[in-house]
This record gives sequence, C-alpha cells and structure tokens, in this order.
Amino acid sequence: MKHWQLIKEENGIVVAVFDKAGESANSLSAEVMAEFGEILDQLDKQPPKGLIVRSGKEAGFIAGADIEEFSQLDSAEKGRALVTRGWNLFNRLAAVPYPTLALVRGHCLGGGLELALACRYLLAVDESGTKMGLPEVMLGIFPGWGGMLRLPKRVGPAAALDMMLTGKTIDAKRAKKMGLADDCVPPRVMEMAARQLLLSGQPRRPLPFMQRLLAGPFKSIVANGARKQVAKKARPEHYPAPYAIIDLWEKHDGNALAAPEIIDRIITSPTARNLVRVYHLQERLKGFGKSSIFKAKRVHVIGAGVMGGDIAAWCALRGMTVTLQDQTLERIAPALKRAHALFTKRLREPLRIRDAFDRLIPDPNGDGVAHADVVIEAIFENVEAKHALFKSLEPRMKAGAVLATNTSSLRLEDLRTVLHQPQRLVGIHFFNPVAMMPLVEVVEADRADPAVVQAACAFVKQIDKLPLPVKSEPGFLVNAVLAPYMLAAMRAVDEGVSPETVDEAMLAFGMPMGPIELVDTVGLDIAMAAGKQLAGGAEAPRCLIERVEKGLLGKKSGQGFYDWSSGKAAKVAAGSVPAGLAGRLIAPLIDRVEKLVADGVVADSELADAGVIFGTGFAPFTGGPMHFRRGTE
Ligand code: NAI
Repeated sequence: MKHWQLIKEENGIVVAVFDKAGESANSLSAEVMAEFGEILDQLDKQPPKGLIVRSGKEAGFIAGADIEEFSQLDSAEKGRALVTRGWNLFNRLAAVPYPTLALVRGHCLGGGLELALACRYLLAVDESGTKMGLPEVMLGIFPGWGGMLRLPKRVGPAAALDMMLTGKTIDAKRAKKMGLADDCVPPRVMEMAARQLLLSGQPRRPLPFMQRLLAGPFKSIVANGARKQVAKKARPEHYPAPYAIIDLWEKHDGNALAAPEIIDRIITSPTARNLVRVYHLQERLKGFGKSSIFKAKRVHVIGAGVMGGDIAAWCALRGMTVTLQDQTLERIAPALKRAHALFTKRLREPLRIRDAFDRLIPDPNGDGVAHADVVIEAIFENVEAKHALFKSLEPRMKAGAVLATNTSSLRLEDLRTVLHQPQRLVGIHFFNPVAMMPLVEVVEADRADPAVVQAACAFVKQIDKLPLPVKSEPGFLVNAVLAPYMLAAMRAVDEGVSPETVDEAMLAFGMPMGPIELVDTVGLDIAMAAGKQLAGGAEAPRCLIERVEKGLLGKKSGQGFYDWSSGKAAKVAAGSVPAGLAGRLIAPLIDRVEKLVADGVVADSELADAGVIFGTGFAPFTGGPMHFRRGTE
C-alpha cells in the first residue's frame, strides 16, 4: 500500500497508520480510500482484537477529503459516486465486529472526522493543534460520508447542527465534554490510553434523554429552529448547502444517497464551485511569506487606540509577547480591558486567559522597542507626529526587526523620509475590527527592501491573518474599491432611493452589510475624508454633506443615515428594489478592482478577488468581483 501501513502488535491489536504519500497533510483521496477498503478486507479474513486508526504525519490526523478531486467533479454522476464511495466505506467500518478507535491528534476535519465517527471510540489528544470539525458547509457542500448521520447521534442534534452549519472546530477538551470524544488525554499517555480504551468493552455514553427527544419526536422543531438561525446569515439562493444539511438530517437521517436530487443540486451548484475557488484563493494568500525565514516572537505596538490596542491584543492572543505603548498608562487601560474581553471569549480557560494577558505588557516608556522583532506604529493619522516617532524609534530598534505603519491614507514614501534606512519601512494595514477581519494588506513602498516585505507577510501569517501584498497607492486595494461603491450608494440616496432600499439591494446581491449601513459604521466624517482622497475629485454626495454638517456621524454619534440609539441601525421596511439597482451600485467597485489590477497595485485578478472577499466580505459565493464579472458578461 502506498498511503497506509499496517502494524500487527503482539497483543493482537492492529494499528493502521495513515501517511499520505508525497503530501505533508493527510487527505482522503479515491486511492487512499480504496486502500483503506483493502485493509478492511484483510481484517475481515483475520479479525484483530481491535483496530487503531492513526496518522503518521506530524501535521495532524486527517485534513478532510481531497479537495483537488472535488474540484474536478463536473457531472452529477461523479458527485453521486463520490458520496457513495465514502458513505459505503465508513458504514463498513462502523459495522466491523471488532472494536475500533481513532487516535486523533492535530486536525481532524471533514471526511477525517467522519472516519473517526465511524470508529467505535474516539480518543482525542489534548494539544493546542487538536481540532475537530465538519467544515464542508464552507465549501458549499455537506458532510455526506456519514457525518450528518453519526455526529447528531454522538453529541445531540443541536450541537451537531451547530458544528455542521457553521463549520466551526472544537478542541480536545471540549470534544470530550460534549461527548464527541470518549476521552481526552495528554500526548505522553496516549499510546497506553488508546489500547486500554480500545479493549475496554466500554459502551458508548447514551445521549441524554432530552437530546434523544430532540433527535426523535421533536426533530422538526430542531430543524425549523436551525433553519431560522441559518436564514439570519445566509439566503438559500446564495448558500443552498446549510439548508440541504438540515433537510438531509431531518428527512433522511443524514443519508444523502436517499435524496440524490439534493446531491446533484448541491455538488453542481455555482456556489460550491466558487467557494472551492475562494478556498484556493485563501491558500494562495497563506502562501505569502512562506519563503521567508523571519519568525517573530516579540511585537511592539505604538498607539493603544482603536487599532493599536486591538492589534496588540490579537498578537498576544496568537502567542506573541507584546509591549503596548501610548502617551500615558490611562490611554493604554481601555485597550487592556478590550483585550481581556477578547481573551475570555476566545480562550475560555482561566489559565490560558491569564497566560495571554501576561503576554500583553503596557509599556508607556517604549522599553519594548529594543527587543521587538516587529514594531507597529498605529498613532494618530498625522505626518509630523509619525515623523517624530520614527526618528526616535529607528536608532533603538534591533537590526533586522520589521518597522511597520498601520496608516490608512498617508504615503509611506512621505512617512519614511526621516529614516536612515527608508527602505525598511513597510505597511501592515489591519482592518477594523481587527479580531473579525481576516485580511491584512502588506504595503510595499516604492523601492522597499523585498526581504522586509517578505518578513512582514511571514509575520502576518504567523498571527493567522491572510497577508495580501499591495503597492503603496491611495487606499491600497480594499479602501480604494470601497470608496466608489459607497459613493454610488449615497448618490442613489441623493436620487431619492431610501437607505433601506439601497442596503436591501446589496444584501440581496450577497454583501454581508448594506453600503449605507457600512458608511454609518465607518463614520460619515471618515467616509467624507476617504471620498476626498479616493473619489478622484468627484463632488461629495448631498446626503453625506448635510449629515456631516449637522454632526450626524453614524454609529459612533448615535445617528447617521440610521438611528443607532439602540446599538443597532433602526431600519424601516425597504421599498421594492428597482431593477438593476444592485448591478449599478456594484459596477463602480468592480471597475476600480479592474483598474487596480491593470495598474499593478495588486499582482493579478485572483489576488484582487481574494483581497476584496476577505477585506470587504464581497459575496464569497460569487467567487469574487472579477470572477463575477467574467461570469455575467
Ligand atoms: P486612535 O485615535 O484611536 O488612536 C491613536 C492612539 O495613538 C491614541 O491612543 C494616542 O494617544 C496615541 N498616540 C498618538 N501619538 C502618540 C505618540 N507619539 N506616542 C504614543 N502614542 C501616541 O487612532 P486609530 O483609529 O487607532 O488609528 C491609528 C492608525 O491606524 C492611523 O494611522 C489610522 O490611519 C490607521 N487605521 C485606522 C483604522 C480605523 O478604522 N480606525 C483602520 C486601519 C488603519
């Protein structure tokens, strides 16, 4: 066998080690699964005392199905064949007479988790890399190899639907708590624990009574509740897969083969194809900085305001030691408070929260500069202030440390004039809110040192954000494409279309937030300033000028286009959306993307699509603005 190794132990246990040939991570290709079928054939003839399935990779257990094979599905028949293959194989595994155990260390996702669920026992190794989930929905498909059948039986329908509909992953401890894993052990005892559990004869923990009711007589209540939840986030015409998952669970007990028309519809949908494209785009962004050997441990952030405070917190969350500087301790305090809230939400365990908090050090004197591998400036948007700061920073920095600015609108070429080594300044442009936005633009100034740009990309990747290299032009990519879009939306308001109708047109198009609500969220004053810089001399819209003059600045002032006094935009019902409105509003955005690609601000149209999707939330199911335009022309 090419991908599996069978080890027969003296105690009668057989260990199947999965180590996919020629790859750093395990994925379930047709060949891998055929070989696993052969293993089951062999063991049918000579049943072992028990079977342990484990990975031979450092990287983890199994990352999922082979996405390349999935990308090549071009017919409904091939789609059905793919589902059948995994469904049958894992049913076979679930039915073997000897006990089976999946030893899960590292990632265990999609088809990998479906394999693990088909084993009698799941032993999770308690390590930070251990993550279990069914992320198929994010690719526009469903977990058709038994996940929809077995996960609800293991953890109850509500928790299972939550995992399947959001694609979120859970760690080893939580997996044990919710009943997904039978046990959770530290690495040093995993070998012994696996063999003990395998031969224990221990029955499965039955689902609590309430969960059995929800999986039985009250199934439709759970399904309807889930549909309502999904409807808040995704429209069925844009994202059919989550609705299909609920239907398949409710009506067919998770067996997609019982509803082949659903398989056909989902697998051949443009959404699935485009989301796979988005996955590949994301992988491409993750590849930036891979070639750099730069590795950051210490980060120094200057300016503990909206951005700097949250950048510092994010870096600490991601394991960096961070010093955070501002003019006084009082100015740093609110950032620490927000950081604590972030750590509590993301880390949950008191010890880990405390460790993260220990890594975030208030540093009003800037002592951290001398030790930092990356220094990020996020002070007021003012050239003189930044100049004064850079002058004092440069002589104190380590050689080889990255000096970055988070500026949105100032030219790097102007900011770096005070430096002895101007080529070392790079832009690392985060988006607000930092914790939510996956993209970070890495800005390359004219004649910048390429090694510095590479190092900046590597750092961005280290903190689990997606780096996008862009050239130093006003608005870079993301703000530059948003400006004409927001302008077009406000022009429509000037023409008498209500803000609600404008927003509804773009929500129906697939944007995560309407453009008028976006203006309110960004702040009308900021939108005005950005417009001046990015709209090429176009006059500001009347509706914007009037509101700014009255001090109605949007969410932060409680009133902009909408009333925000309740914390949310108070919207009246949208009028009927005029035909062609969405197309008219999105065209200037796509025009601008095309121009920026032509001008080389971003290297190619794929990267532009990636940047606009991950930086603005541009309807991912369309595959991105350029891809969308190509498809509709
Ligand atoms: P902010 O006004 O919230 O925070 C700036 C902080 O810098 C203040 O706490 C101030 O006390 C501190 N500061 C000013 N001069 C300082 C100095 N010499 N030494 C130490 N601390 C000093 O500003 P915000 O919004 O966080 O913006 C910071 C930078 O990030 C700007 O360059 C802005 O263009 C950029 N940016 C802002 C975004 C936003 O949505 N607010 C988004 C992306 C980038």
